[in-house]
Amino acid sequence: MHEIIEQLAEKRAAARLGGGTSRIEAQHAKGKLTARERLELLLDAGSFEEWDMFVEHRCTDFGMAEQKVPGDGVVTGHGTINGRLVFAFSQDFTVFGGSLSEAHAEKICKVMDHALRAGAPVIGLNDSGGARIQEGVASLGGYAEVFQRNVLASGVIPQISLIMGPCAGGAVYSPAMTDFILMVKDSSYMFVTGPEVVKTVTHEEVTAEELGGAVTHTTRSGVADLAFENDVEALMITRRLVGFLPSSNREKPPAVPTEDPADRADASLDTLVPDNPNTPYDIKELLFKVVDEQDFFELQPDQAKNIVIGFGRMEGHPVGIVANQPLVLAGCLDIKSSIKAARFVRFCDAFNIPIVTFVDVPGFLPGTSQEYGGIIKHGAKLLYAYAEATVPKITLITRKAYGGAYDVMASKHLRGDVNFAWPSAEIAVMGPKGAVEIIFRKEAGDPQTIAERTEEYRKKFANPFIAGHRGYIDDVIQPRETRRRICRSLKVLRDKRLENPWRKHGNMPL
Ligand code: HXC
Repeated sequence: MHEIIEQLAEKRAAARLGGGTSRIEAQHAKGKLTARERLELLLDAGSFEEWDMFVEHRCTDFGMAEQKVPGDGVVTGHGTINGRLVFAFSQDFTVFGGSLSEAHAEKICKVMDHALRAGAPVIGLNDSGGARIQEGVASLGGYAEVFQRNVLASGVIPQISLIMGPCAGGAVYSPAMTDFILMVKDSSYMFVTGPEVVKTVTHEEVTAEELGGAVTHTTRSGVADLAFENDVEALMITRRLVGFLPSSNREKPPAVPTEDPADRADASLDTLVPDNPNTPYDIKELLFKVVDEQDFFELQPDQAKNIVIGFGRMEGHPVGIVANQPLVLAGCLDIKSSIKAARFVRFCDAFNIPIVTFVDVPGFLPGTSQEYGGIIKHGAKLLYAYAEATVPKITLITRKAYGGAYDVMASKHLRGDVNFAWPSAEIAVMGPKGAVEIIFRKEAGDPQTIAERTEEYRKKFANPFIAGHRGYIDDVIQPRETRRRICRSLKVLRDKRLENPWRKHGNMPL
């Protein structure tokens, strides 16, 4: 017995050492934490319960039979974040570059299977050279097993990927199918083919960071949600993100106590919208002033900035927020912003998170690049997502709600539960200038008449009352009252029930 206990201690020590001291030092020298250090920071102190520490690979080719490290390059198990259960895996770059063997994949699959059954999030810390080259197709099979589970878990439990080192080739598709991707600047990258292959095939010279670094994916491609300066920051923010999410689709998102009164009025909101309808203002000012304790958790802040998405809490209950941003492209919807918001709306709907939408949208962005790029199909994604969503939907039109974009942005017609407008709202088919140019084209040569017609149109349509007459707007509210009215509406809708007709799945325009 004594001997076995000694052996156990030795095996545990070997597993904890991963690829050895020099490789750990190399990892630290790159500014990266080890797989275990990362888990320690991610999870509540002392909560991590490790599984499969003794798993070894089964490969015998290329001298691999003599090279075995207990755990085989990934640390897996469960722990808690602020007392709530999560499952996690953390790839260990010090062991065969964190590469994925068949056994390594089995360990990941095990925690994913348990997470699904337990109804708890899975958090993957990715730091891997990809498929274990020595294992060939067994490794590819392992990846596909993970992919399959990513898909089955989608919409059932939250899945979060942190990219904290290499993530290349087909390996990128597991994070790509998870709900959130968080990357670390300068030490992580994601690409389907690396700089060398790119150079050979397209003759483009590009560094790994330029091709697939955190900045690239959070400003250009939209693949990742957030970029961080270092591992510690990424892990701390992941803990914060988890706080907004339910553990699974069976639960409501977790409420927390708040000191912020639900009826807090904010007089400064009465002057947020400028008198000139063409002057921009920052919609984020409204978001910060409306949510509990100014705590707005923005996602994808650096791409498609014409729409803002993120989480906040109202009376302690998490909500998903979508808002047009008049500061960028006048808040127009375009391809990227439609995709960004559509995916977020679907996430919220899948996980019972009410959606609060703030509208100031002059329409869809015109132009050949948008049309050739498929704005019809991509804009439809947002329309589809809102129309499909059955969670409570509160909408507030602050200023413009023109054309198809009015319909798309959680309008009454898409089963918006409570639709508010500020007195400054303008709801019409298009802005006064464009409208008059079309319907009074024959009078185009007479600037005086055109000016009069424009004013006439503005008076008639540039207000919330026509929509109010039809009940498309439930109430026109004072801006200062916004928080109180949204909190009340959310409270009324807390036990909302609405179901879509049975179907295997819809055919969303992809
Ligand atoms: C086995 C690997 C490995 C791999 C790295 N290592 N990648 N072992 N399989 N895929 C080992 C190295 O041999 C080395 O071992 C250690 O990990 C660290 O690697 P280094 O090259 O020294 O580190 P670094 O210079 O930081 O470069 C990291 C790297 C590079 C950029 C990831 O290792 C690399 O290019 N690896 C190969 C990447 C690749 O082509 N993977 C397959 C992609 S295709 P020692 O013993 O020296 O410490 C794929 C398909 C998935 O993944 C398909 C899913 C559908």
